[in-house]
Amino acid sequence: MARTTAIALLVALAVASSFLVGGVHGVRTARHHHANKHSKRSTSPSPSPHAPGPAPSSRRHAHAPAPHPSRRSPPAPAPAADPPSSGGDDPMPAPSSGGATTVYDIVKDFGAAGDGVTDDTEALKTAWDTACQDAGAGVVLAGAGRSFLVRNTVFTGPCQGSVTLRVDGTIVAPSDPASWPANNRRSWLVFYRADGVSLVGSGLIDGKGQKWWDLPCKPHKGGNTHGPCDSPVAMRFAISNNVTVQGLKVQNSPEFHFRFDNCRGVRVDSLSISSPALSPNTDGIHVENTQDVLITNTVVSNGDDCVSIGAGTLNVHIENVTCGPGHGISIGSLGKAGTRACVANVTVRNAVIRHSDNGVRIKTWQGGSGSVSGVSFEGVRMDAVRNPIIIDQYYCLTKSCENETTAVFVSGVSYAGIRGTYDVRSPPIHFGCSDAVPCTNITLSDVELLPASGDTVDDPFCWNVYGNAATPTVPPVACLTGGLPKNYEDNSNLKCY
Ligand SMILES: *[C@@H]1O[C@H](CO)[C@@H](O)[C@H](O)[C@H]1NC(C)=O
Ligand SMILES: *[C@@H]1O[C@H](CO)[C@@H](O)[C@H](O)[C@H]1NC(C)=O
Ligand SMILES: *[C@@H]1O[C@H](CO)[C@@H](O)[C@H](O)[C@H]1NC(C)=O
Ligand SMILES: *[C@@H]1O[C@H](CO)[C@@H](O)[C@H](O)[C@H]1NC(C)=O
Ligand SMILES: *[C@@H]1O[C@H](CO)[C@@H](O)[C@H](O)[C@H]1NC(C)=O
Repeated sequence: MARTTAIALLVALAVASSFLVGGVHGVRTARHHHANKHSKRSTSPSPSPHAPGPAPSSRRHAHAPAPHPSRRSPPAPAPAADPPSSGGDDPMPAPSSGGATTVYDIVKDFGAAGDGVTDDTEALKTAWDTACQDAGAGVVLAGAGRSFLVRNTVFTGPCQGSVTLRVDGTIVAPSDPASWPANNRRSWLVFYRADGVSLVGSGLIDGKGQKWWDLPCKPHKGGNTHGPCDSPVAMRFAISNNVTVQGLKVQNSPEFHFRFDNCRGVRVDSLSISSPALSPNTDGIHVENTQDVLITNTVVSNGDDCVSIGAGTLNVHIENVTCGPGHGISIGSLGKAGTRACVANVTVRNAVIRHSDNGVRIKTWQGGSGSVSGVSFEGVRMDAVRNPIIIDQYYCLTKSCENETTAVFVSGVSYAGIRGTYDVRSPPIHFGCSDAVPCTNITLSDVELLPASGDTVDDPFCWNVYGNAATPTVPPVACLTGGLPKNYEDNSNLKCY
């Protein structure tokens, strides 16, 4: 079943992609003037990615943006002006295959200094805006061997063609919170309505989070509640479909490293995400209100969740992910302050979780509604993990939350092939389900969890949890209730799907 779900998901992603190709054209036609926001262009170097010499038909013309670009208009004659910053003798990198790719090099074409000190925000932003007006494939290049200081920026679409931001060098954030605008401390680099965007490369994105983590208002610094404690998410994708992020190293985000909101069709592959084990709220990848997500071949070590899945998330497949140290892979927290949350079809396959506070976790607050369903954890190796398997429906940060008569309904969660070792400070299996809304259809097979050191904690914890162990487990789980609770029909009304 797990295999077919994964395959179905991949097919669904492919279908979603082809749907998006059509869908985005509609959007693009309706909105193409929105992309034309270049009021600052006169203050920026006039970009001209044209190489000197004859313009081969295979090379996309990439003139400085016309005042009113329209993808229906014929290509403007392309007078090949010299690139402003390179003196004109640097030929453009050859277009990649397909012939419709234009490279917008932020150093050669847009005057970025790349010395790690000069503010290169304008160069990067202008390169984006220019590539975004290119009806072909535009590649914004932050090249190798340089470091680009970039302030908080929004890369806005929709774009005329597909835009790739290729980072082979380093992009660094300003390190001092005091240098950030007081009214915008929630995100650093944002991709907004950027359908089809790719963020790739072999480079590094460094959020310079240390001074943010050290702020006295942070929970681990005593949680002084005076004043705002907002810290920026490093990379945020919002309302963007068909997003690819691949290959980069991303480190030391002030807060979450990646956050996807209201996206459809997200592929994350081969990332390396790291920040210190004691850095607060530095989740690796957070998805929320997002569908059709594939996260593969990625390594995360940080101070919070490796991957966190928030409300409104559907069809997530996570494969070959290595987590730790950190807080493991989490669905939730959900249902805070009585909210409705829906999460369905989440598969985690072939994961390794090391030295983490949790392994695979579902956490919900008392008092919410909605449901979590169709969750499969398969082939997860645990290495000295506290709470390797945990459902916590009493999630509460203050330890003084009241019990409520509603909760997010958790149903249909399978754990298969969960092996390895646990930290004996907590039981290896903990199912703390709500009094009002029991968890149902929780299944275990091929689970073997041994103490990393010390004595076995033999008592899995179960409260109001229905399901079964299909094979004997280590430790034995005798506390699952078979069948369904009496109020199952009522609770089924909570189901979102
Ligand atoms: C969950 O996945 C199954 C099988 O892949 C699919 O049939 C179903 O529509 C999905 N559920 C939702 C709510 O998309
Ligand atoms: C979505 O991605 C696929 C493959 O990665 C690509 O062929 C398609 O053109 C993309 N769609 C958009 C809208 O960029
Ligand atoms: C996961 O890793 C295995 C072994 O390296 C590889 O064969 C497989 O293709 C990977 N899965 C994905 C989805 O990349
Ligand atoms: C809430 O319910 C749980 C399970 O019945 C119980 O252990 C816990 O003490 C209750 N908490 C409060 C604050 O009443
Ligand atoms: C139980 O959960 C599994 C997923 O773990 C799902 O495939 C199955 O349909 C569920 N069964 C019922 C009766 O809801």
